[in-house]
Amino acid sequence: MKLLFAAPAFITLVQAGLRFPCSTLTFQRLDPAGQPGSNPSAHVHHIVGGNAFNVTMEGDVGERATCTTCQMSEDFSNYWTATLYFKHPTNGSYHRVSPLPVQPLLGGSNGAQGGLTVYYSQFDLSRDNLAQQPIKAFPPGFRMVVGNPAATQKVHSGLSYQCMSGNNRGAITNEMPTKPCPDGIFTTHHFPPCWDGKNLDSPDHQSHMYNTVTSEGFTNAPKCPSSHPVRVPQVAFETVWNTKEFNSMWPSGAPNPFVWSFEGSKTGYGTHADYLFGWKGDSLQRAMDKSECFYDGCGVIKKQAMNIANQCTVKQIVREETGGWLKNLPGMEM
Ligand SMILES: *[C@@H]1O[C@H](CO)[C@@H](O)[C@H](O)[C@H]1NC(C)=O
Ligand SMILES: *[C@@H]1O[C@H](CO)[C@@H](O)[C@H](O)[C@H]1NC(C)=O
Repeated sequence: MKLLFAAPAFITLVQAGLRFPCSTLTFQRLDPAGQPGSNPSAHVHHIVGGNAFNVTMEGDVGERATCTTCQMSEDFSNYWTATLYFKHPTNGSYHRVSPLPVQPLLGGSNGAQGGLTVYYSQFDLSRDNLAQQPIKAFPPGFRMVVGNPAATQKVHSGLSYQCMSGNNRGAITNEMPTKPCPDGIFTTHHFPPCWDGKNLDSPDHQSHMYNTVTSEGFTNAPKCPSSHPVRVPQVAFETVWNTKEFNSMWPSGAPNPFVWSFEGSKTGYGTHADYLFGWKGDSLQRAMDKSECFYDGCGVIKKQAMNIANQCTVKQIVREETGGWLKNLPGMEM
């Protein structure tokens, strides 16, 4: 043997950021970030996270909530998007589409029920950003919205769709798939990574934030501008919608029958998401300060089994049916 040096068996990657499942908490027409105080809000949302979820949410949510549907047990934040509906191509009735736990998560879906996967990343998915710029966790009371239900064209990079076939997610598009997807529609919502450092919110719920990312997927955020100098974790949601059960009602060649809960443009450009920070104390900051926190956490933050997370519930504040066959989308009655 002429080999002088053995190749290392492993190359140690520095990984930073969090990725974890949150089960479905509720489907309701409430929107404490986008439409605080509105009971009901304009359209139905799919909501995960802490049980302080309410019509209006001010102050330190992490101190008020007592349980969460998320795997990280100190995370009482709420995360939500519009809900996907199937619109029957011939009779026009609507049926809510169920979310499925996102696969593959390290260790499977860990028993999540529906829900979505949340990311807090510092750089891309394999490196941290600590040496370049510190990552500041959000303060209590912070909230933000990304995307716009009225959009008829692309408004933000990182709001996308993929057509699932098995575990293959397919090409990333900014428009809804136009053909039946064998195993569901995968949606992604990336939030902006730069904050003005002062405002917990803004009149449009977006202008206190700034997006420097111009491509889809997980990439590093270019430097923040002086107007929004504070680099925060890059928050992203992934949801898999179980559209498969409706594919047999999609006639060959007919247009896409899936619509968001606000109907909106047929293209799906109105896709949007809401975030309301609720980590307890400095737990998110502690996670962001550690290079070894990734995928399912690290020693500095606590986790819970998903069968415990699944027991966290909230009351149905808006008393209306959002599932089953509906003549109209809730809130969209003619
Ligand atoms: C929701 O808000 C109402 C009105 O302020 C309050 O009475 C109720 O306790 C709140 N519920 C939760 C779960 O925080
Ligand atoms: C539309 O079709 C679905 C599926 O067959 C059915 O369950 C629903 O009741 C129909 N709606 C109306 C208004 O007929």
